[in-house]
Amino acid sequence: MNLDSTSAAIHPDKTKMATVGTNMRNIGYVREFRKVSDYVYRFDCLNANVAVSFVSDDIVRIKLFFVAEFSLDTTVGVLPQRTSPQELTVHETDAAITLRTSTMQVVITKDNFTLQAEDLDGNPFYTQNNVIWDNKGGVTTFNHMDSAAHFYGLGEKTSFLDKRGERYEMWNTDVFAPHVPEIEALYESIPFLIHFKNGSAYGLFLDNPGKTTFDMRTMTDYYTVQNSTGEMDYYIIKGPVLKDVVKRYTDLTGRMTVPPKWSIGYHQSRYSYMSQEEVLELARSFRDKNIPCDVIYLDIHYMDEYRVFTFDKTRFPNPMEMMKELRAMGMRIVPIVDPGVKQDPRYEIYKEGVLNDFFCKKIEGDLFIGPVWPGDSAFPDFTEDEVGRWWADKHRFYTDMGIQGVWNDMNEPAVFNESKTMDLDVIHRNNGNMKTHEELHNLYGMLMSKATYEGLREQLNGERPFVLTRAGYSGIQRYAAVWTGDNRSFWEHMAMAMPMCLNLGLSGIPFTGPDIGGFAHHTTGDLLVRWTQMGVFFPYCRNHSVLDSVRQEPWSFGPEVENIVREYVNLRYRLMPHLYNLFFEASVTGMPVMRPFVLEYPNDPNVLNLCDQFLFGSDMIIAPIIRPDTAHRSVYLPEGVWHDYWTGRLYEGGQHILAHAPLHVMPMYVKAGSLMPEQSQTHYAEEATDGVLRLNVYGVGGDGSYGYELYEDDGATFAYEQGKYNVVSIGVEESAAGAVLSYEYAHKGYESEHSGWLVNFKFAAFEPSDVAGLNRVGAEGIVHAESGWAYDADKRELLVKFAPSSAGGTITIS
Ligand code: GLC
Repeated sequence: MNLDSTSAAIHPDKTKMATVGTNMRNIGYVREFRKVSDYVYRFDCLNANVAVSFVSDDIVRIKLFFVAEFSLDTTVGVLPQRTSPQELTVHETDAAITLRTSTMQVVITKDNFTLQAEDLDGNPFYTQNNVIWDNKGGVTTFNHMDSAAHFYGLGEKTSFLDKRGERYEMWNTDVFAPHVPEIEALYESIPFLIHFKNGSAYGLFLDNPGKTTFDMRTMTDYYTVQNSTGEMDYYIIKGPVLKDVVKRYTDLTGRMTVPPKWSIGYHQSRYSYMSQEEVLELARSFRDKNIPCDVIYLDIHYMDEYRVFTFDKTRFPNPMEMMKELRAMGMRIVPIVDPGVKQDPRYEIYKEGVLNDFFCKKIEGDLFIGPVWPGDSAFPDFTEDEVGRWWADKHRFYTDMGIQGVWNDMNEPAVFNESKTMDLDVIHRNNGNMKTHEELHNLYGMLMSKATYEGLREQLNGERPFVLTRAGYSGIQRYAAVWTGDNRSFWEHMAMAMPMCLNLGLSGIPFTGPDIGGFAHHTTGDLLVRWTQMGVFFPYCRNHSVLDSVRQEPWSFGPEVENIVREYVNLRYRLMPHLYNLFFEASVTGMPVMRPFVLEYPNDPNVLNLCDQFLFGSDMIIAPIIRPDTAHRSVYLPEGVWHDYWTGRLYEGGQHILAHAPLHVMPMYVKAGSLMPEQSQTHYAEEATDGVLRLNVYGVGGDGSYGYELYEDDGATFAYEQGKYNVVSIGVEESAAGAVLSYEYAHKGYESEHSGWLVNFKFAAFEPSDVAGLNRVGAEGIVHAESGWAYDADKRELLVKFAPSSAGGTITIS
């Protein structure tokens, strides 16, 4: 039919009239404002209404609404808030209204509703100059940006650390390729941006799980934040200290719980280890070759035609037996679980899902069916709590076998179709508040991991679960670790993993890492070595590779590569007390485990975009080699004095040095004036140590005082929530003539496996002649002595061995 002869000829889509800019509106003047409750004010303006509320003294929430009634409900990304400001005062003049807490104020102009957040002296740190929208529902805020502004956060994005000059979309997407700087969206969407200028930071969090855009590129004086569906509901989080912004953002969206120690060991994966025998052989190889390993992953081939919650009976005839054998070796299994449930009326999970109405549907009632690994599949509607509980319960299939960790993949959700995901008009029942998939897309993966985490937590009888996810939204840190998806065995991808995971860390997600060695393409021995050297200092540490790629287990490239890989994996296990401590800190304050320098040195102009090296915690510099056949690199050392971890040589900070790094060396430096615990070598996280905590003291070689707060618990259960943990504060007072180490238990509720401490004072400026109350013994064997001290003049290391007392104590060296 020729539609030109029907009314279709004048279809609005055919108009040649300019539409851009038409029907654009902004908020307009304030007609009226009033207090709604103690911390909530409502501004009724010409074209829209705005709720301005305070979540705490330091966090203001701004929500635009176009209807008379408004709701302050949030997504599940935001925790129910217990905090509220101490006191909120209001001050009105002819021109403006000021809402003031004990730490900040918000000034709203009456004639055109601009909003400025200021410190108490009236210095603005955030200015929202305009908010406009069109009649399709997309709202854009224009936020002041000047030439000194830098940007961080935004979760899992490609390119460098500083996001100035970039534009990104938030839309969880299965991107097998390419992971290049111009890709605007990957698997995770964390709509949290940090604005950083002259050492001062604030955060902007847009709580909207639909498609949103952050544009720090297009305009000269503004960065824009835009939603396309749902509500413009955002939070301004005051700094000015960058660490405080991260802490406050994680007050809002939550923090990870302390992970099981085994989950922070080394993990080995492959798409796929194809049989029970292959898995067991692999585990034996790790033990035979003395390469530490805690976990082996089962990728999709373990299942019966990719049906989740099944095993392929030919390949894995006796998974229970396999689990037993693995556990006897100190190894665990983490199986993959994807959201797509094979459409098969004979398959229990599909039947139950259909009969109970648990799958996503179109509003007309048809199931949404999309192809993934098992072929046509249905997708649980995780927005409905009841469905989450059903899915959670299904995990008994795994937990009954002793499995304690689950890998959630393809949960964007990925669908093998043109749009790469579920149809946008699929509806989610969302506990009675029905929304389209378009509105909730970015929540899908996180809700799957939430159900998984909650199921495991319930089923593991007090043991800590581990969940790994590919997709997520703000708050995902409460449920899962995040790996960065299908990277490639490219040196560029190795390098990019640093800024990616550093920004994830600044976005509240501390437990992250890439596929070490690269997932797709083919790794080389050189790349595997360099990537493993770097990767053992990432919070999440897994080697994973795709079908048909060259093998990349640590021994795949001959003895030289194997030996170096072993050395570095060994090092991760020796540093376990410190690594674990960093995770504990993340669980309390939200501080990331691996940190960009800008977090620790916010006033150093050299570090604003420094991301080819990073900090492990606050005091250790990791400077990987990120090019092939390269044995030197420049390393930036910020202010202070730095010990070369390998040679002990001291360097003045505030300069770039040229580090020599033959294949077996990755440059590492430790700050003078810091302490770092290590333990004896183990092959897996729960293997017993020799009972001696090594406490390395990196001296300043003169006057200085510094300390460390050591956290210890059983590493496996939630008993710490009942007080079964230790926190011990260790302090060192150093002078040119001696040193005093003192320690004190701030909390003692756990019997530590470390009954002895071996303190190693590195490179003291003085030669000690006495350690009060202890006998001088030989350096050989001091580890096993009950107590005593020794001095190694060549290494200039003083070793002191003693049994820590629960009453605390002091070691005086002169
Ligand atoms: C996806 C995952 C990858 C996994 C593969 C097969 O590509 O990102 O890690 O190996 O699916 O399950």
